[in-house]
Amino acid sequence: MTLKQLQVHVKDLKQWQTDEDFVQQINEFKALPALYRHALNELENKIDVIKTEWAIRDGFSPIEHVKCRIKEPKSILQKMQRKGHKFSLENMEQHIHDIAGMRIVCAFVKDIYRLVDHLSSREDMRVLEIKDYIAHPKQNGYQSLHVIVAVPLVLLDGTRWVKAEIQLRTLAMDFWASMEHILYYKFDKQLPAHVAAELKDAARAADELDQKMLRLRREILELSEGDTA
Ligand code: GTP
Ligand code: MG
Repeated sequence: MTLKQLQVHVKDLKQWQTDEDFVQQINEFKALPALYRHALNELENKIDVIKTEWAIRDGFSPIEHVKCRIKEPKSILQKMQRKGHKFSLENMEQHIHDIAGMRIVCAFVKDIYRLVDHLSSREDMRVLEIKDYIAHPKQNGYQSLHVIVAVPLVLLDGTRWVKAEIQLRTLAMDFWASMEHILYYKFDKQLPAHVAAELKDAARAADELDQKMLRLRREILELSEGDTA
């Protein structure tokens, strides 16, 4: 770098530093991943408590496993572009709900609804939106229940409600969605009709498996109640 270039650079830097708004925006932007990470940790802890309580009360927990992830900055920018939002922190917070993401995989469909009912009744989180792709599967066969929640994060300046997306699925739904993701990851062309139809068939098979397991559970529960009667 020449001396002249350096002088220009330093002048620019000074100009930025006097622009308090800009500096604050940069600082806020830098703090975001940590903010979402902490909110997600708090959410994970709440789910963990539910899991333990269920296990103690019923002898088993219907939550099979929980996975968390923070969306990559590149994917956030791509999603904002795709949705036609100009990039700003405000737009990002308002329109991108899945920067903090959690997937909860349950054994049975019924447990998903039980869990969401419970989450809706809690005072330490707000359920903002529910998309029920179990009752109304997507065109390709995708099933899951998506819940947008806000969790309170107590910061030095007060409480901030941070959004997170929870996807709830059964093991069978998760198997299908994971396979579909692997099969079509980075495939951006129109699917051949027979492939799309077979995938949809596979989703139906996963759904039937869920129904069958639910029926078997009911039967086994009735049998064990008969034993203790
Ligand atoms: P995107 O998050 O960009 O999809 O927009 P959205 O929030 O409007 O969509 P939606 O809530 O329906 O889906 C959000 C997330 O659900 C995605 O990021 C995926 O993780 C998952 N998802 C939705 N549809 C599909 C699907 O057809 N297949 C698979 N494997 N996952 C899906
Ligand atoms: Mg979403």
